Amino acid sequence: MKGNIAGRTREFITPALVFHTGITVKKASGIYIESTDGKRYMDFTSGLATTNLGHCPPPVIEAVNKQVKTLIHSGCIFYYDSLLKLSERLREITPDPIEMFFFSNSGTEAIEGAIKLARFYTGRQGIIAFTGGFHGRTFGALSLTTSSARYRKNYHPLLPAVFHAPYPYCYRCPVGRNPRTCSTDCFGYLEWMFEHLITPEEVSCAVIEPVLGEGGYTAAPFPYLRKLRELCTRHGILLVADEVQSGFGRCGKWFAMEHSGVRPDILVMAKAIASGFPLSVVASSKKIMKKWSPGAHGTTFGGNPVSASAACATIDAIKGQGLLENAGRVGAYALERLNSLKKKYPSIGDVRGIGLMIGVEFVKKDGSPDTRLTKHVLKECEKRGLIIVECGRHKNIARFMPPLVVTKAQMEDAIGIFKESLL
Ligand SMILES: Cc1ncc(COP(=O)(O)O)c(C=O)c1O
Repeated sequence: MKGNIAGRTREFITPALVFHTGITVKKASGIYIESTDGKRYMDFTSGLATTNLGHCPPPVIEAVNKQVKTLIHSGCIFYYDSLLKLSERLREITPDPIEMFFFSNSGTEAIEGAIKLARFYTGRQGIIAFTGGFHGRTFGALSLTTSSARYRKNYHPLLPAVFHAPYPYCYRCPVGRNPRTCSTDCFGYLEWMFEHLITPEEVSCAVIEPVLGEGGYTAAPFPYLRKLRELCTRHGILLVADEVQSGFGRCGKWFAMEHSGVRPDILVMAKAIASGFPLSVVASSKKIMKKWSPGAHGTTFGGNPVSASAACATIDAIKGQGLLENAGRVGAYALERLNSLKKKYPSIGDVRGIGLMIGVEFVKKDGSPDTRLTKHVLKECEKRGLIIVECGRHKNIARFMPPLVVTKAQMEDAIGIFKESLL
């Protein structure tokens, strides 16, 4: 197709849907994309933390090619082997007591499933979420999403009985403490909620991203997650880990929650699980899942044979290529290099991350978020062939989320471009 594809596409797509760049892809491979105007870019967005094996990974292409020749769709009419194979693989890589799954298509859809499962199992209505979290755009998930009020604007009333506690975002502490001396003081807000807003016996689940994605690329301190686990257990509340962005190796383990030793009751996966094919999962123990009675939830496309095959190949490749280790190794190197930039550039207020989920927060002289500078730096990176996108309520955090196959040398190139763009 000739002509300005981006411009012509825009005439058909509602402005509600925002594209991060004006680039049109001619082809993509590994960490690189080639645009229709002949430029090559390093893609450090991974299609929003999804192409963890890089673009068009050969093992996934091979698995999908094989699958489309035998069965493309079942619609829950027939059984097929790729779904069993995927379930067995997921059972191996997910922490105990996760052993049963419900497959759907997108992150938001899996969050809906998790909410429904928690309500169904506990018979309670209340939901706890965390300010700054992003869980999706459909009504249930949107009721939890608070990374920006803009996403909620004009959609009220949302789901009732959803209560938000402040996310433990230490660089911008929600209760004004110094992270070096604080002992997760913001946790006290949850106890306060139980005294004033909703009794714990009415709460079905607490839904948390172990590493805040869209809301700012900042990890919840492990003691906070442990306290939350303890609180949930004490009150019979299900702990739901939204690992849609942080999962599938992004943080150097299969799931970010593993770093804290905390085991969720419900684990939500999506994005990178099938290397770009639509697939998401609500995962839980047999005890919880078996109480979800036949017909209480359903799907036409969820866990379709092609996505399931892509997911099997993705899991095998992450294992076979040692990508968890690579994410840890290259991520640690990136943190070290970015921290040395922070020492030279006062506009970098904070550098943080686990594995290859790294945020660089830009600030003005008074420490307030610098949205304008962030936009400028990312534009300059793009001009020099590096695609990075921002996050955070003020869009002042550059998020490094390259594919897990990124090498140390490629990371060095990217940080070199980032540095030049700061000048
Ligand atoms: C943590 C988290 N949960 C849920 C979602 C929603 O996923 P989807 O866009 O596939 O609906 C996202 C998307 O960015 C996410 O980052």
